[in-house]
Amino acid sequence: MLVLGIESTAHTFGVGIVRDEEPYIMANERDTYVPKEGGMKPTDLLYHHASVAPSVIRSALKKASVSMKDIDYIAFSMGPGIGPALRVGATVARALSLRYGKPLVPVNHGIGHIEIGFLTTKVKDPLILYLSGGNTQIITLYKGRFRVFGETLDIALGNLMDTFSRDAGLAPPYIVNGKHVIDLCAEKGKKIIDFPYVVKGQDMSYSGLLTAAKNALKSNDIGDVCLTLREVAFDMLLEATERALALSGKREILIVGGVAASGSLRRKLEELGRDWNVEIKVVPSEFSGDNGAMIAYAGMLEAKAKISVEVEKSQVKPRWRVDEVEVKWRS
Ligand code: FE2
Repeated sequence: MLVLGIESTAHTFGVGIVRDEEPYIMANERDTYVPKEGGMKPTDLLYHHASVAPSVIRSALKKASVSMKDIDYIAFSMGPGIGPALRVGATVARALSLRYGKPLVPVNHGIGHIEIGFLTTKVKDPLILYLSGGNTQIITLYKGRFRVFGETLDIALGNLMDTFSRDAGLAPPYIVNGKHVIDLCAEKGKKIIDFPYVVKGQDMSYSGLLTAAKNALKSNDIGDVCLTLREVAFDMLLEATERALALSGKREILIVGGVAASGSLRRKLEELGRDWNVEIKVVPSEFSGDNGAMIAYAGMLEAKAKISVEVEKSQVKPRWRVDEVEVKWRS
């Protein structure tokens, strides 16, 4: 079985090709939109994705040494994500499905991140931290669904870090020499400032922290602001994670999503792992950010469980949560 997967929920247009046996991933090509300044405008994403789609598909097919005729299923990110960006991927997927007569498989983007984490780290029954620009969720698989144990009530951890770095004039680029610019800036920090620390039950709130950090720039050393922002944000996540560990009794933590690449967060979680005697598994960096391979792989699992969608019913779902999906392939 060969599955082509299309990712287009946010800044990345990605195409992956997987097969249903080791080593599974045959191609993972992508083109990521980087705005010259400010945040991402939905219409810019639309134009970017539409213009790179043909070349990214071609290069994935070439990398996998296959043609469209060899592909059995077309999987695509149906949501959640930014509407105009999602619609480009969905339109391309529908066109390929109709033109080549291949069934269409709808994939939840978050589940793509989680399943590629399972594949690449070989975890069995983990507590999952899904950390990205758009999501901060603590998840466990329970009774056939990926249940959200705790999550941010407003902005995501990745969004907090990226927005602050941009507003403080530290980015773009957000990653320099493999480190987030917040980490580089925090290296110069010496003291912790009084910032809001908001954990409500299992959930976190980061928007007040962002406002406090931006205001603090006026009267504090930027290194101290970066250091405090990072420490407070990570400690909030760690507190909720520890509570989830205590309640779920899991022995492994799987970290997926773009923020999984943060070295400082990884070190903190490894410390937590030692305290709790829990193994920490992090998705490899090639698969931590948005990519087509994760959509193709989750699509393959779904196709095997006979999940597909008719073209007429394949509207994108910009607010599709992971816990709305019945995980038939794991039950
Ligand atoms: Fe993502």
